[in-house]
Amino acid sequence: MENTVVFPYNEQDFNKTELAPSYRVELRDPTNEKLDKFIKANVVSDWSELNWNKIGKPYIVDKMAVDRLNWEKENKQDMPVKTSWSYFNRSFHEWFVKDVPIELSEKKKTFTKSLSKFKMNDVKVVLSDIVKLNLWNYVHRVQDGIWDPRGKRALFEGLDVKKPRILFLGAAEGYEAMQLAAMYPGAEVVLVDYDIYCKTHRFKEFPSTYPFLGDNPSTGSAKVWYKDEMNIEYEVEDIRNLKYGKEFDIVLSVGLLEHVPDEHKAEILDMHRRFVKQGGYIIMTTPRNQIRSRIYYNIMADVMNHTYRELMDIRQMGLYVYEAGFDIIRHGFIKVHNGIIAQVR
Ligand SMILES: C[S@@+](CC[C@H](N)C(=O)[O-])C[C@H]1O[C@@H](n2cnc3c(N)ncnc32)[C@H](O)[C@@H]1O
Repeated sequence: MENTVVFPYNEQDFNKTELAPSYRVELRDPTNEKLDKFIKANVVSDWSELNWNKIGKPYIVDKMAVDRLNWEKENKQDMPVKTSWSYFNRSFHEWFVKDVPIELSEKKKTFTKSLSKFKMNDVKVVLSDIVKLNLWNYVHRVQDGIWDPRGKRALFEGLDVKKPRILFLGAAEGYEAMQLAAMYPGAEVVLVDYDIYCKTHRFKEFPSTYPFLGDNPSTGSAKVWYKDEMNIEYEVEDIRNLKYGKEFDIVLSVGLLEHVPDEHKAEILDMHRRFVKQGGYIIMTTPRNQIRSRIYYNIMADVMNHTYRELMDIRQMGLYVYEAGFDIIRHGFIKVHNGIIAQVR
């Protein structure tokens, strides 16, 4: 029997939102008109007036995942960067595919059982799991802070591109490129990640039933798009080895710049410049430095902190981008990330 994917939402479902077991379905504000409130945009008026003395440097997250610490103890060396990404991707993906309500209810049963038998170590472990699950439920599933489709649409809207070629550097599951492809139909997307697990699991298992709000080119109105309707190629490669020329209308990265210390930031920014057409757009986002994010990365350290990571504000992010030779076209912050649209100066 043929395995056909049913697309569960269409234009009849506009303005609906509901909680699926692993994520939020978000079909509110399909026309983009009321999206402004999901981004605090253009807070800096003149980038040339900023300097590092004025704004300080990003906050470095120093609590590392136990898996990384154990690996380093066993191997008597720092974990290589690529290995740290492979640990991170496997760990993070496990959380995206969780059926959160079922898992929460199972953990609560285990808690009661362990408590009734006075197994205090098990009680401690399960309590910590429950805290993490509740936090994940709130941040990802209820608030939709990680995918944040309305914030991303507010950041991505109004680009002067038609059927764009989009290159996503360090793509992981590729979410933001899919959101762009929905908004700019006819897009040709190249996702690049050097961790093969991202292609075989994070992208492959990204739900085919997840609805992206975008445009219908034949009517000019809004439309629901799905991953399997998009033109996406996945390349497993180190972004430093890519052979493309300046051939992409949009070069995108999400959560990449903050993973290298200052001495490598220019190199990362150069990767974006290298593949963008003249007049094309660079889109980047990085996690915000806010108290709730610091708490999140502290509680979720074993899930998230296998790699070097900074939290920055939009001025710091913008100054890295500006100093690397880009004009900042739009900047701002959404739920948990800063976002920048830039062009080569
Ligand atoms: C923090 S993730 C991006 C955030 C992503 N949205 C997520 O949900 O995980 C960064 C990705 O970049 C990839 N990456 C890091 N350095 C790379 C390189 N030099 N070449 C290719 N991919 C790289 C990692 O494997 C990882 O999947």
